[in-house]
Amino acid sequence: NRFEDWLRAAPKAELHLHLDGTLGAGRLLQLADKNNVPLPYNTLQELEAAYHFENLQSFLDLYYLGASVLREEEDFYALMMDYLLRCRKNNIVHTEIMIEPQTYLPNGIDFPVFMAGFQRAVMEARSRWGQSVQLILSFLRHLPESAALDVLDKAENYRDDFVAIGLASSEQGNPPQKFTELYRRARERGYRLTAHAGEEGPPAFIRSALEDLTVERIDHGVRCLEDDTLVEVLRERRIPLTVCPLSNVRLCVFPTMKQHNILQLLARGLVVTVNSDDPAYFGGYLNDNFIALHRALNLNRSQALQMLRNGFEASFLATAEKSERL
Ligand code: ADE
Ligand code: ZN
Repeated sequence: NRFEDWLRAAPKAELHLHLDGTLGAGRLLQLADKNNVPLPYNTLQELEAAYHFENLQSFLDLYYLGASVLREEEDFYALMMDYLLRCRKNNIVHTEIMIEPQTYLPNGIDFPVFMAGFQRAVMEARSRWGQSVQLILSFLRHLPESAALDVLDKAENYRDDFVAIGLASSEQGNPPQKFTELYRRARERGYRLTAHAGEEGPPAFIRSALEDLTVERIDHGVRCLEDDTLVEVLRERRIPLTVCPLSNVRLCVFPTMKQHNILQLLARGLVVTVNSDDPAYFGGYLNDNFIALHRALNLNRSQALQMLRNGFEASFLATAEKSERL
């Protein structure tokens, strides 16, 4: 297939990826065994049978349980290295990876353990094949803002490892304005700013992310189409949306890929990018997301090329580094 061959070969940027979302079922069970973490699933069949979700929360319950098997530096190294090797296979030349310390801290795993593993894998990929990598410090919005502020302070020892902060987890009931002080402090400390908004939450959450948190891009944002004035703001300000097609279908944001609104977002002049979110749980890495759009929505080369270019434009790379890639 000509489109698919062309797409696979094209250099890509990925901007919305949770590292814990790359933990495959096989490695998950192997680490549970090694680290003596009890799970309600004992076989690959049992575990994979659980990969059916009704909404974001039903996924998050399994996702946090899965990530609880990560305990030792070598586990974090292996997880990061597996994903960076996937980048190489998918021709993802630049990637921005969300790291969620609040998933590890309750298990007594602190920054020195996971950061040592992550740093070692990132340095290796940079030197072995020139992989471009930036890390995003992502906070869990179902927890209180005070907990996030403590983690932001802990991360000061690793300030140079993170380009930005992000906000993920349960959107319903946890509006962006809950984290106004977190974003104020992060901005003061020189972090770039992004947040999940408008995945399950209403357009008002996208507005709050822009106005209260002053984010530069929006993760997901697909529900913006319900508010024409908001679409105009996003278009005018060229605020990128990091859209995750397979994720949206698996989490029932859209009933099927044919009903996904990504081509409408693009036609409205928005800076739309394509991303994989949690590829091990949602059935595909970045190339698979583009190919699913081609098959269901007839995504053509010119639309795909626009979204590939948007990926570099929307990245947190410095302007000079961007122009080299574009
Ligand atoms: N954490 C991992 N994947 C997520 C998603 N799609 N939305 C919110 N939080 C997440
Ligand atoms: Zn996400």
